[in-house]
Amino acid sequence: MRKRKKFIKIAIDSPAAAGAGTLAKSLSKHYNLLYLDTGKIYRMLALLKINRKNKFSKSFLKKKIKNLNLKSLQNVNLLSDEVGIEASLIAKDKDIRKLVHSFQINCAYKPPKKFNGSCLDGRDITYKIIPDADLKFFITANLKIRAKRRFMELKKLKKKVSYLDVLKSIKKRDKNDYNRRISPLKRTKDSILINTSNLSKRACFLKIKKIIDRKIIN
Ligand code: C5P
Repeated sequence: MRKRKKFIKIAIDSPAAAGAGTLAKSLSKHYNLLYLDTGKIYRMLALLKINRKNKFSKSFLKKKIKNLNLKSLQNVNLLSDEVGIEASLIAKDKDIRKLVHSFQINCAYKPPKKFNGSCLDGRDITYKIIPDADLKFFITANLKIRAKRRFMELKKLKKKVSYLDVLKSIKKRDKNDYNRRISPLKRTKDSILINTSNLSKRACFLKIKKIIDRKIIN
C-alpha cells in the first residue's frame, strides 16, 4: 500500500505587499496544499461595507461569512488600496475576527482530501490560526520596495494610482496592523524571518523550499 504523504500546515505572516501572497501561492502549488489568502476575507467584508453602507450589520456579515466560498475571494475589486485600508479598519473588530477565524481554522485543519495540507498567509496566522504549524514564516521587505511592488501590481490592473498614494496607504496599514490591540501583526519567536527586499520571486521560492524540504524529510 502507498504511504500517505505527511499532512503539512504552513503559516505565514507579513506586512502588506511583502511578497507573501505570491510565495504562498507557489508553495501551495508545489506541495499541493490548500492556499488561503486570509487578507482577502477582510477585504471582501470591506468591499461589502463600502458598497452597502447602511445595510452593513454584524448579522449580515455573519451570514456572508457562513456562506463564504473561496471562489468569491478572486474578485479583482478586492485588490484596491481603498478596500485594503477599509479592511485594516474592519480587522480591528473583535467580533468580526472571531467569525472569520473559524472559517480560517477550518481551511487550515480540514482542507478537502485531495490536498496534502494547507498554507495560509495573513497577520495572525502563526500564533492565532495555526499555532502548531509545521513551518512558520515571517515575510517582510523594506517599505519603499513594498510600495513599489504594490504600485506596479495596481498599474498592471489598470488602476489609477500614484506611487506616493500607495506608499501612504501601506504606511497607514502597517500602523493599523502592528499597533492594534487584537491580533496585531508580529513575528513570533518560532517564525523564520525572510526579507524579500533583494530577492527575486524565484530566489525567494527556492530559499523557502529548501527549508521546507529539510523539515519534511526529517
Ligand atoms: O493581506 P492583505 O493586505 O490583503 O490584508 C488586508 C488587511 O486585512 C490587512 O491590512 C489587515 O488589516 C487585515 N488582515 C488581518 N488579519 C489577517 C489578514 C489580513 O487583520 N490574517
